[in-house]
Amino acid sequence: MNSSSTPAHYGGKPIRDEVLGYGSQSISEADKKAITEALEGDYITRGPAVEEFEQRVADFVGVDHAVASTSGTTALHLAGEAAGFESGDEVITTPLTFVSTAHVATYTGATPVFADIDPHRRSLDPDAVREQITDDTAGIVPMHYDGLPADIEELLTIADEHDLTVIWDACHAFGGEWRDELIGAQRDMVMFSFHPVKNITTGEGGMVVTDDDELAKRLRRFRSFDMDYAPAGYEDEPWYQVTEGVGYNYNFTDIQAALGLAQLDRIEEFKAQRDMIIESYNAAFEEVPGIRTPPDPVESDPMRHLYAIEVNEEFGCDRKEFINAMHAENLGVQVHYVPLHYHPYFQEEFGYEEGMFPVAEEVYDKLVSMPLHAEMNQDDIGKVTQAVERLHRYHN
Ligand SMILES: Cc1ncc(COP(=O)(O)O)c(C=O)c1O
Repeated sequence: MNSSSTPAHYGGKPIRDEVLGYGSQSISEADKKAITEALEGDYITRGPAVEEFEQRVADFVGVDHAVASTSGTTALHLAGEAAGFESGDEVITTPLTFVSTAHVATYTGATPVFADIDPHRRSLDPDAVREQITDDTAGIVPMHYDGLPADIEELLTIADEHDLTVIWDACHAFGGEWRDELIGAQRDMVMFSFHPVKNITTGEGGMVVTDDDELAKRLRRFRSFDMDYAPAGYEDEPWYQVTEGVGYNYNFTDIQAALGLAQLDRIEEFKAQRDMIIESYNAAFEEVPGIRTPPDPVESDPMRHLYAIEVNEEFGCDRKEFINAMHAENLGVQVHYVPLHYHPYFQEEFGYEEGMFPVAEEVYDKLVSMPLHAEMNQDDIGKVTQAVERLHRYHN
């Protein structure tokens, strides 16, 4: 075996000199200009750019209201507060997600109840959700894993049958379509993250979208100190503001909004780039034994945030060896996610244990997120596929 066919992990030369991350932002000159212009405006927070960004997202998604917030995590918190979740309530969610998804429950004092996943979508299995419903169930928080829509129809049916609030964690899914709707148009609330690795970015940032006027009002109030800035009866005392509960300062800045608006102008470009990379990966990896490419979309045109493969025994080495070998090649692959019921917090607070959600665990054991972001070029894609192919050859 010559040195160019030896993976770096076993003594060969790394396929790249610099690390290629699994995700990254794409910032153009127009993005930078938009930020500079925002800094020159009269308002740099809670100003007109924030309203414009919210309106643009609402129009894009096809809903009445969009409420921007400091992160996806705080957007989830706002949605949980607006839903009225509280101590004694149970909120059903997936264990195969980022911790913030479950914090819709924990932040509001409710209990996160995990239900197992459907391995074909890697998101909540509706049958498993049905099994977890009790008299205390107040809501469901499904997550569209990698951008692929969860079983929206079935989950909404369950919500209707049991009068539950649904908050869709669409952090991975901004820009995608399900049937003839954009992701975000589903009731009751849908939230997004604009973290740098996501489909568009505002640095940090998040948003909740909804068609429900009352929920939108509550989201806005909680975002900003639970303050009524123009209470009825005080029209001649314009300084008079009243706070009626415990709100937060999750206000979005005009600097973030300006970047968000500029990024929205590029969403088609970003989606085309992501789709092109996915097609190239699918073509290459379908030829490699032991690699399962991500599940195909069902009735949808997702904008995928992750390209998460599953590495099986047939590949020749296990997932841990695979990841360490990719890191040695300077390919920053990642795993999404360590299941939530493995974490000490959820075990100690809520009594979860490994072994409770076998489907999520089986999928987790094989998952690897390969690099996927809009700045990647043909050379980057080629390096990723070559690294996987040479690792497979080395082990076979
Ligand atoms: C599925 C999911 N939910 C919630 C979050 C939290 O978003 P943010 O990082 O913007 O707080 C993330 C981001 O990592 C996520 O991937």
